[in-house]
Amino acid sequence: MLKDKTIIVGVSGSIAAYKACEVVSRLKNLGAEVWVVMTDEATKLIAPLTFRALSGNPVITDLFAEELTKLPMPHVFLTKKASLMVITPGTANIIGKIAGGIADDPLTTMILASTAKKLIAPAMNCEMWRNPIIVENVEKLKGLKFEFSGPEKGKLACGDEDIGRMSEPEEIVEKVVELIGIRQDLKGKRILVTAGGTKEAIDPVRYISNRSSGKMGYAIAQAARERGASVTLISANGHCPAPHNVKRVKVESAQEMLEAVLRHYSEADAVVMAAAVGDYTPKLKTQNSKLKTKELTIQFGQTEDILKIIGKQKGRSQKVLIGFALETENMIANAKKKLVEKKLDLIVANDDSTFNSDSIKFSTIDRKGEVKDYPQQAKAQAAQVILDNIACMLR
Ligand code: CTP
Repeated sequence: MLKDKTIIVGVSGSIAAYKACEVVSRLKNLGAEVWVVMTDEATKLIAPLTFRALSGNPVITDLFAEELTKLPMPHVFLTKKASLMVITPGTANIIGKIAGGIADDPLTTMILASTAKKLIAPAMNCEMWRNPIIVENVEKLKGLKFEFSGPEKGKLACGDEDIGRMSEPEEIVEKVVELIGIRQDLKGKRILVTAGGTKEAIDPVRYISNRSSGKMGYAIAQAARERGASVTLISANGHCPAPHNVKRVKVESAQEMLEAVLRHYSEADAVVMAAAVGDYTPKLKTQNSKLKTKELTIQFGQTEDILKIIGKQKGRSQKVLIGFALETENMIANAKKKLVEKKLDLIVANDDSTFNSDSIKFSTIDRKGEVKDYPQQAKAQAAQVILDNIACMLR
């Protein structure tokens, strides 16, 4: 999401500086080139070497340092290259200096020299944050198009529970992505995603399920959130961590998934049924205790087809319905049949090699019957293809 973006991370002297390590590593993981600039005070809290290891670049604490002499005028060269400067933590002192146009250290010099977007994550004592001087400085900077993340209410370094705590790293990185990352073309849209293999209970300890890992549905939910959608994920795989800022509803059986989908269906603009819903459920009277028989013959009945039910409800509404078709043979023909039967707008056909894998080879088929084939790719990337289709249909 931040591929080819250069970001300068400014670290000033607050105890929250340790959280900047996580910010740097998350930015790197999203593909950004990261340069860290530290104030003198910050170097007393965290060793520059830590940021050097995390960013893979020399840490700037002195604009005239030997190590930077290879860069022509680092404060100009780097700031020209950067898409964003993020000051995390932003102390009362650094905010005051920026608002006053002071440039007496590498960080404030680079801020003045930069025309890139700027984001400040303040961290300070609650009374400092409420001080009218700070309030005025922050207002002034907001007027000059500086963006802010936080501060939040919570436990402060002084022990008080109050406003002034720096935003969590994921919050800051989410804001960075919003400012310079991939497009927010799903902002304001509500997307319902299902994931994982449902489980049908045989008795209190046993169940029948399938090999679905839930990775595809989770990747779609996360990518949709990053593209600005508000996302509800109905998950039959509770052990995966929920993507940040995604509302997750945990279910087990096909019936529970149906009920959860119906509860959230009316508010959704698009539904992606990535779950591997079990087709069969044991025809047993509800067992309260473990079965002890030596041999067991179970008759299975059919579960309800969730997509078919919501496909019927869709009527003339503008909702987008996307299903998956897992086929071991005649993939395209079978997927086309499901597309029509379930009244879908798009179906994603794949084979059983997808189970539990981080990648997927797939084809999409739209309502006109147009088939597009995609080579093996990361599920995160495939998620973007599916969301491109949704964004296009919701436009
Ligand atoms: N699906 C559903 N409810 C079911 C079964 C499947 O909503 N009870 C959805 C799946 O989430 C998927 C699509 O229907 O998006 C196709 O699922 P798939 O398992 O490939 O096909 P089935 O319709 O179950 O048919 P079959 O198993 O016979 O291939």
